[in-house]
Amino acid sequence: MTTLDEEKPSSWKMFDAISRSYDKTNRLLSFGIDRSWRKKMKRFLPKGDIDLLDVATGTADQILAFETPRPHLRSVIGVDLSPKMLEKGREKVRRLARFDHIQLLHGSALDLPLEKESRDCVTVSFGIRNIHPFQTALKEAFRVLRPGGTVLILEFSLPSNAMLRASHLFYLKHILPKVGKWVSSHPRAYTYLGETIQSFPYGQDFVNALQSVGFCSCQIHPLTGGIVSLYQALKPSEP
Ligand SMILES: C[S@@+](CC[C@H](N)C(=O)[O-])C[C@H]1O[C@@H](n2cnc3c(N)ncnc32)[C@H](O)[C@@H]1O
Repeated sequence: MTTLDEEKPSSWKMFDAISRSYDKTNRLLSFGIDRSWRKKMKRFLPKGDIDLLDVATGTADQILAFETPRPHLRSVIGVDLSPKMLEKGREKVRRLARFDHIQLLHGSALDLPLEKESRDCVTVSFGIRNIHPFQTALKEAFRVLRPGGTVLILEFSLPSNAMLRASHLFYLKHILPKVGKWVSSHPRAYTYLGETIQSFPYGQDFVNALQSVGFCSCQIHPLTGGIVSLYQALKPSEP
């Protein structure tokens, strides 16, 4: 049997396979709350005219949450390894006017197709857990950020409250795989989702990973009782 660490390097293939139903399944399985998590991240963007990179951008939902109803970022690049997720993202970006400043590129989070110190902010929404090794993606985010730049990472976590945690684990193990399989027709994608949520580092463990590649001023913002966490950190400014 393959392990999650063996499965993750080619997770993009699974996202390719579910790209058509991805947005719809997200809305359903999160009861629509994913939109509010994405909007919450928008509030933590650095102020002013900024160049942003969204890693593992998928169908560009996070970018569109930043740029609607009114675009306000100077330039936005989204990078993902799944051609079909990107295709869906490009369709969505084209449908909305005034988005010439958004570019969606095929590429890996492990070797970003960007110059060093070229971005003011790097975001990753529900992507870091699918990248292996995720520490390399953090190093790449650090490389492309300008000194003083911000990294924002939105990812699933587990609630600290015992009752909430138990009911959430029940949902992840018994409900999510069945409903996900039914909506997406993919035999494994939503079992994989539950398994990766349970095994991925969160809270202080994830902050330790951020600090170990050089990020500072790390903050954790638990959302919806801690089923999701928003991590905010800075690349130190030059002395
Ligand atoms: C759960 S989706 C998240 C998509 C989007 N950020 C969102 O918020 O809906 C995870 C994405 O990670 C992408 N991915 C996985 N490994 C990757 C890698 N090494 N480099 C870039 N993207 C990767 C997948 O193709 C998929 O689109």
